[in-house]
Amino acid sequence: MKEERYLTVALGKGRLAKKAMESFEAIGISCEEMKDKDTRKLIFVNEEKKIRFFLAKGPDVPTYVEYGAADIGIVGEDTILEEGRNIHEVLDLGFGKCKMCICGPESARELLKHGELIRVATKYPRIARMHFYDKKQQTVEIIKLNGSIELAPIVGLSEVICDIVETGSTLRENGLVVLEEVCPLSARVVVNQVSMKMEHDRITKLITDLKETL
Ligand code: PRP
Repeated sequence: MKEERYLTVALGKGRLAKKAMESFEAIGISCEEMKDKDTRKLIFVNEEKKIRFFLAKGPDVPTYVEYGAADIGIVGEDTILEEGRNIHEVLDLGFGKCKMCICGPESARELLKHGELIRVATKYPRIARMHFYDKKQQTVEIIKLNGSIELAPIVGLSEVICDIVETGSTLRENGLVVLEEVCPLSARVVVNQVSMKMEHDRITKLITDLKETL
């Protein structure tokens, strides 16, 4: 009999990985080693189910999946849209719910409405371009930042930001508001195109089981 190969699952480090592992546990696939908070290991194997998990930076998950270094990935829709990789998006896991929004001080609302040439600070330049250039057909200057995006309009780097809003606390505590909603976001399961064919039965079973837990 042909020996079963390991299915490899890439998880975005952090909150999403923890929630994703809870979903896998709910369908009987656990990985005790991963629960050790002090571990510096990056790869975790479930020998019985022939599945291995690895932890990567969120934005790298679609890359691992596109190149086939991972068969499956669990990642936020924001990252999928921003990376624009050639992968199959197969399931909305329903957790990690938040929204991509255009935010800023209330005073920026008029600038947005009149299509002025404003500056937009963001960690997501591709999503910002899709929103302003493709959807709204508005020319803006996009400034790429790597975090704490809410700072930008406060210190005068930009008029607005394109960023994730979850509870809205960061905006509130910094005197900013949502000006436009771009799209809803949540955690998704993505699959490599070739794996989808070569490991069709195992991957379909996994997705069906995950779907039943929702
Ligand atoms: C994210 C996002 C917002 C904040 C939104 O930042 O970029 O800043 O969370 O959450 P809230 O609506 O619940 O306040 P994150 O914590 O990932 O850090 P970063 O800004 O440094 O990327």
